[in-house]
Formats: sequence, C-alpha cells, structure tokens
Amino acid sequence: MKYQNPTEIESSYSENDLGRTLYDLVLKHKPKKIVEFGILYGYSTVAMAMALDEVGAGHIYANDLFEDYSFKHGTKEEVQNNIDRYGLTKYVTLGKKNFDEWLKQPEEFDLLHVDVSNKGDTIERLYEAVKGQVARGAIVVFEGGSKERDNVEWMLKYNSKKIRDTAVPFEVIDKRFPSISMAKYI
Ligand SMILES: C[S@@+](CC[C@H](N)C(=O)[O-])C[C@H]1O[C@@H](n2cnc3c(N)ncnc32)[C@H](O)[C@@H]1O
Repeated sequence: MKYQNPTEIESSYSENDLGRTLYDLVLKHKPKKIVEFGILYGYSTVAMAMALDEVGAGHIYANDLFEDYSFKHGTKEEVQNNIDRYGLTKYVTLGKKNFDEWLKQPEEFDLLHVDVSNKGDTIERLYEAVKGQVARGAIVVFEGGSKERDNVEWMLKYNSKKIRDTAVPFEVIDKRFPSISMAKYI
C-alpha cells in the first residue's frame, strides 16, 4: 500500500506527517517483527502497517495500557477499528501490556517504536534494556529527542528529565515536532 497520512486518526504525529518517516523506515529496513509501545488511537501503528503491506511481510505487536492509563488514551476496540478500516488487520496484533513490565524482560524484535509520553528517564531505561539488541542491528526509534520537544509545557510542569540531558546515544531522524529519534550503539 502506498503511504497516505492517516489524518483522521488523531495524533501529535499527524500535523507534520511523521507517519511518513515511520513508513519509510519500515520500507528501508523490512523488519520481520515490529514491537510498539504507546498506540493512542493507532496513527503510528497504521503508518508502519501500511509499509508492511507494501513490503508484503512482517508483523506489528502493538501494546498500550488503554483504559489503565490515567491520561489521554484510546481503547483496544477504537484502535482495532482504525486498523481494520485501512485493511491492515493481518499485520497487527494488539496487546494490553505495560512498557515498564516489558523492560524487565524485553522480547526480541527487529524494530521497536516507543511513544509512551517519553521523558529522559523513559529513554534511559529503554536503552539500558535493549542496547544489546541495538548492538546486533535491531532498530530502536522513539518519540522525542528534539530541543523543542524537550521543552513542551508538560515536561516543564512536571520537571521531567529532558531526553537531550541523558547519556543515551541517539540521532534525531525527524526534527519536525514532536520529533522522532533513533538509538545508536557506541
Ligand atoms: C503519545 S500517546 C501515543 C501516540 C501514538 N504513537 C500515535 O501515533 O498517535 C501515548 C500512549 O502511551 C500509552 N502508555 C503510557 N504509559 C504506558 C506504559 N507504561 N505502557 C504502555 N503504554 C503506555 C498511553 O495509554 C497512550 O495511549
């Protein structure tokens, strides 16, 4: 399937079409197994699944807390409906899973996308848990990493550690708000 910005699925990625960056990443690396944490209504999941359809292989295991998250979240049913509407059902399995629990024993993946209201400490814990997989060539991308994203109102309000203040090696691969970064192995 050729890429189209799934604008009817509400997302902070939508306005600057960051879905295309995720789509192009999947097209380039052709990951067999994608793991995602932080779905909301399914924008990023749909963007990556479009690329799997174009490649003709691969699967996304997409996880969220859904109703157990106190802030803005979607429901499993809403997300499943959005995926089905795009004809991408066979590429995605939704799961209710806590990222913090998953980090204790991370499964193997070819590409991991993390978007769980990321703060500096989220990215530190993420990197510590998966750097071995990064070393063997697995791709780890996460929301954030730009200076602008580190200074959003809620990060300042909660005095959250900035992602750019961590020692995690990463490269901003799309600096348009809210930005997407890729972890590096050094
Ligand atoms: C910014 S939204 C994700 C946006 C989505 N990637 C998109 O493309 O629009 C953050 C999501 O992370 C989920 N979340 C927050 N903390 C989580 C955790 N510890 N484990 C799993 N999901 C979590 C929330 O329920 C929410 O749906």
